[in-house]
Amino acid sequence: MTTDTHRNPSVDPGSHREIEPRVLYFGTPVALVSTLNEDGTPNLAPISSLWALGMLLVVGLGATGQTARNLEERPEMVVNMPSADLWERVERLAPLTGRDPVPEGKPPGCRFEADKFGAAGLTATGSVLVGPPRVAQCPLQLETKVRHVRADDSGEHVIVEARVVRVHAEKGVIVPGTHHIDPASWNPLIYSFRHYFGLGVERGYSHRSQTPTHGVGGRAPEPSRA
Ligand SMILES: Cc1cc2nc3c(=O)[nH]c(=O)nc-3n(C[C@H](O)[C@H](O)[C@H](O)COP(=O)(O)O)c2cc1C
Repeated sequence: MTTDTHRNPSVDPGSHREIEPRVLYFGTPVALVSTLNEDGTPNLAPISSLWALGMLLVVGLGATGQTARNLEERPEMVVNMPSADLWERVERLAPLTGRDPVPEGKPPGCRFEADKFGAAGLTATGSVLVGPPRVAQCPLQLETKVRHVRADDSGEHVIVEARVVRVHAEKGVIVPGTHHIDPASWNPLIYSFRHYFGLGVERGYSHRSQTPTHGVGGRAPEPSRA
């Protein structure tokens, strides 16, 4: 690998420009996080700052929101993964907070809503191992127990680590007879610079894929040793 563009004539030294973007939402899946309020009613919030490390989920939350407050007091959540066709219902939740009064720092137009499931036209269904409900319309629902909630270096966000204790998958996205999700059937909702997308066509699969026959892409050729 060379880091010197002058030695690599195929890299155009004028191809990039330094910019200062307001956000870095470079395309991550959307999740609907359900938590329990103090009075036992559920709260529901769309998020896109999340990733999985084995069965551990790492989630980034605004520190002043109701979801962060609930997790500090009642450390359980369900991370519900909507499919791309649910984007309009997700967007209905965007201007809502479960916190009353609306905290400072929320964007203009943000308002309190006690019944977020109703506001989004989504159905709450009971979980097995945790208190917060699942979102019935989401094909993947991950019940989790929260292990850590810590402030980031700015104090504006909290970083949540949560252990997945139960996975629910809609039958249509499971490879029949297995515990594998079929990547050709599962179509996550992707949030990219504040726009919603589904997946494009499959380009290929990892050498570690457990479902190679279910996609339409191919495996990359072995690197040449010549
Ligand atoms: C698609 C989408 C992705 C979002 N991603 C996040 C996120 O990763 N973390 C976060 O704290 N808020 C995120 N938000 C904003 C929250 O949903 C919003 O602050 C909401 O008011 C939180 O509700 P709560 O105060 O009831 O927890 C996102 C909103 C949308 C629509």
